[in-house]
Amino acid sequence: MNTNWTEKQTSELFDAYDDWVEDHFGYQPMIADLTNSCGKEINVLDYGCGGGKVSRRLKSAGIDHVTGVDIAPTMIDKAKAAGGDKLQYVHISGPMLPFSDGSFDAAISCFLFINIPERLELSHVTSEVARLLKPGGIYYVLDTNPRTTGIQYPTYRNGEYGVTYHDGEDRPVYLNIPGQQSLKLVDKSWDVQTYHQTFSQAGLTLIEEKELKYVNNFDNPDRQNFNELQDTKPFIMFKTVKASC
Ligand SMILES: C[S@@+](CC[C@H](N)C(=O)[O-])C[C@H]1O[C@@H](n2cnc3c(N)ncnc32)[C@H](O)[C@@H]1O
Repeated sequence: MNTNWTEKQTSELFDAYDDWVEDHFGYQPMIADLTNSCGKEINVLDYGCGGGKVSRRLKSAGIDHVTGVDIAPTMIDKAKAAGGDKLQYVHISGPMLPFSDGSFDAAISCFLFINIPERLELSHVTSEVARLLKPGGIYYVLDTNPRTTGIQYPTYRNGEYGVTYHDGEDRPVYLNIPGQQSLKLVDKSWDVQTYHQTFSQAGLTLIEEKELKYVNNFDNPDRQNFNELQDTKPFIMFKTVKASC
């Protein structure tokens, strides 16, 4: 059974998770690529925004306007409570979002695909993003790298030690929550080919696929450094584009 994100306790614990590993090696490289490619005077959709941590980081990077959407009401409440200028959040309550075609210059989804249990739903979400993008708009998908499971990172482990997960299989994830019990989530493992098929069915062209590296920072005594993690690749980023007219 995959994680039920509409459960209040899951949302609360996930929001308390310190996501510095994801931030340093996943969100920040993706945000840098986005601003290099599209500039900052853009309107970005954060599909599967959770409590808004990434939306706020997009704003901190200077992006003009960010809209976060999510199916979990508690997540949207948390995102709204954290506030922020030119940030808006919308709860997803039906098959289509309340925005017209071509409303956004770019879109992102972080750790969303691994939380969608069915291929049909992957296709639906991706087609909806494609509808909402302007022609030439970019869609980034950042996820756990399906090729590097079973590695203990400072704040989490994704998958059991020594187990290989096949396409569509459930995969446990253990997040360390400061001062509390760890949070066990159950993700869906999707092969890279499933991402490719999903993009192409939605009319999006893959322009870059990158496995993002973990790099120790020995200059920063506040960070734990682990030689065995150096250059492992915990995350994968897909950059896709909607065809221009
Ligand atoms: C692991 S959290 C990631 C949140 C945020 N993107 C981040 O990186 O911090 C996954 C989020 O996806 C949302 N989600 C799951 N299925 C969804 C769907 N079909 N449509 C929109 N959001 C969904 C969940 O409610 C949850 O907030």
